[in-house]
Amino acid sequence: MRIALSKGKLLAGSEALFRQAGLPFPGAEGRRLVVELDGFRFLFVKDADVPTYVEYGAADCGIAGRDVLMESGSDVYEPLDLGFGRCRLVVARPTGSSFAFASASTVRVATKYPKVAAAHLQGKGVSVEVVRLAGSVELAPGLGLADCIVDVVETGRTLQENGLEVVEEIAASTARLIVNRASFHARRDEVARLLATLQAAA
Ligand code: PRP
Repeated sequence: MRIALSKGKLLAGSEALFRQAGLPFPGAEGRRLVVELDGFRFLFVKDADVPTYVEYGAADCGIAGRDVLMESGSDVYEPLDLGFGRCRLVVARPTGSSFAFASASTVRVATKYPKVAAAHLQGKGVSVEVVRLAGSVELAPGLGLADCIVDVVETGRTLQENGLEVVEEIAASTARLIVNRASFHARRDEVARLLATLQAAA
């Protein structure tokens, strides 16, 4: 069974869940990105790439945030909400700013989630220019790069310490178990066992 896991924020929660479930999980393996352990092959990849590995069948299963799944639009099964990695995908603007979507002809938004941001803001009937960034998105409004941002908020500290406030929530997010569509059928018994074990521990 090949499992794609994020090297980022979901890693600690994934490890805690596997250990709670009595499943194997690699220890501190240095910088190895593939680890074989007790019949599992663990692939450690970037958060945003987990759905890709699973969709294309390079991994049978994976753990990805709903935020990442919304952005990727990958064609995978999503049978289990694992409950950890809770955060919110939000629109945020400079604190106290008078900026409002209704009065803006074009909104410039900085984000790591270009598809989600464009779809959400276009849904409000405004024209959108997306500035795609790979991280530290909270810097953008203060530097004149964007009117607002779309990003995930967990504790809210990064927004607060960078002078931003939430305008509205787009979606709540938690970690999800995802399964490749072919593996779901071809490895039905193994997948069902893994699902039941993780569900009992989640
Ligand atoms: C994420 C997100 C925010 C921050 C939110 O960034 O993009 O910047 O966490 O967390 P908080 O609400 O608890 O402050 P991440 O740490 O993944 O780094 P990045 O900016 O490099 O993507």
